[in-house]
Amino acid sequence: MTDEKLLRVLGIAGSLRSGSYNRGLIEAAKELAPPSMAVESFDLTAIPIYNEDLRQAGLPAPVVALREAIAAADALLIATPEYNYSIPGVLKNAIDWASRPPDQPFDKKPVAIMGASPARVGTARAQYHLRQCFVFLNAFVINKPEVMVAGAPDLFDDFGRLTDETTREFVAKLLVALQEATLRQAVT
Ligand code: FNR
Repeated sequence: MTDEKLLRVLGIAGSLRSGSYNRGLIEAAKELAPPSMAVESFDLTAIPIYNEDLRQAGLPAPVVALREAIAAADALLIATPEYNYSIPGVLKNAIDWASRPPDQPFDKKPVAIMGASPARVGTARAQYHLRQCFVFLNAFVINKPEVMVAGAPDLFDDFGRLTDETTREFVAKLLVALQEATLRQAVT
């Protein structure tokens, strides 16, 4: 028996692609989470393109589900692809929907960021843009370790599973850092 609280982490991959490396990172996190952490994932496929008219008419059900899932989570884990040196529209669109007042659910939420790309820079540029969004939204983003996964095709198998041990260790360390930051915040 343990009285350690189970931390609920919501994982979001910023790609809709079936063979997405970034979804593979989230799936790896489910396996690598410390014993007192549970990682669940939210699929962004059903989130519509942001339209203020839709918002005024009442938030679409998938957006309500996303906002509720973020609010209910103790922390967030985001795996972002890099598109044109920045955040993919799919992810930015979801953040934009979830961020609208009232009660935007990112406020004071601990967030860990990672990302995978076939290219050499491993989503660094997208990750820094994502951090900038979270400055405005007052989320608390973990600084280290930076999990910027380059050369992704060599690190995942044909089923999208992260097989590279070094990368798996980085993901595991990021989750421990997220756990520590979330528990620290809970007592302050
Ligand atoms: C890309 N890709 C890419 N990669 C990168 O490292 N830097 C970049 O700026 C871009 N730009 C870019 C733009 C667009 C429109 C696409 C579709 C792709 C390649 C990208 O990293 C690759 O497609 C990844 O596989 C996307 O992540 P998922 O879908 O595997 O998670």
